[in-house]
Amino acid sequence: MILQQAKIVIFYGTDTGNTQEVAEKIAAYFLEIHIKIDIHNIIDADIHTFYQYDLLIFGIPTWDFGGIQEDWEELEDELSELDLSQSKVAIYGLGDQFGYGDFFIDAVGWLYEKLLPTGANFIGKWPTLGYEFDASRACIENDQEFCGLALDEDQQFDLSDIRIQQWISKITNEFESIS
Ligand SMILES: Cc1cc2nc3c(=O)[nH]c(=O)nc-3n(C[C@H](O)[C@H](O)[C@H](O)COP(=O)(O)O)c2cc1C
Repeated sequence: MILQQAKIVIFYGTDTGNTQEVAEKIAAYFLEIHIKIDIHNIIDADIHTFYQYDLLIFGIPTWDFGGIQEDWEELEDELSELDLSQSKVAIYGLGDQFGYGDFFIDAVGWLYEKLLPTGANFIGKWPTLGYEFDASRACIENDQEFCGLALDEDQQFDLSDIRIQQWISKITNEFESIS
């Protein structure tokens, strides 16, 4: 399936609005390539609507030393019960690598771990090069990659736009290359 024909959504959780702003930016970049996507705050979501989409983009910030944004955390049990084997899933996360360098974007790792048993087809993994942190639950592949896009609006806000654009182009390619 080509991306132009796909149904795409972003579900994000947020405490102070940053993850929502990024969701809106992602949607705006998709619109530039003539793809309209839905956006929902996870606090209002019925997760069974996930099944309506071909590509699910999930946004999650990390809080309080590796803590999970609370609206996502409330869905912990329900998430594990989903069957996402027909869906492609891309995760992005917000964190602060200098302030919380032992827990950088840990919540992305948590969400990835919760969704692994659902059979989700993950796209949009992202290199760890260019970040400075000591530990992250989101690291995979011998710490060479995060399991989703890492954004740091606190310390590297000037890099976010380019990272988002490059990530969209990566997920666009990967969406079309895996069946
Ligand atoms: C009290 C506090 C705790 C935080 N804990 C973490 C953390 O453990 N790991 C991390 O990567 N970022 C942490 N952050 C940074 C936030 O994730 C970051 O500011 C993010 O942009 C917030 O997103 P939101 O506005 O969507 O809630 C913390 C920030 C604050 C103020």
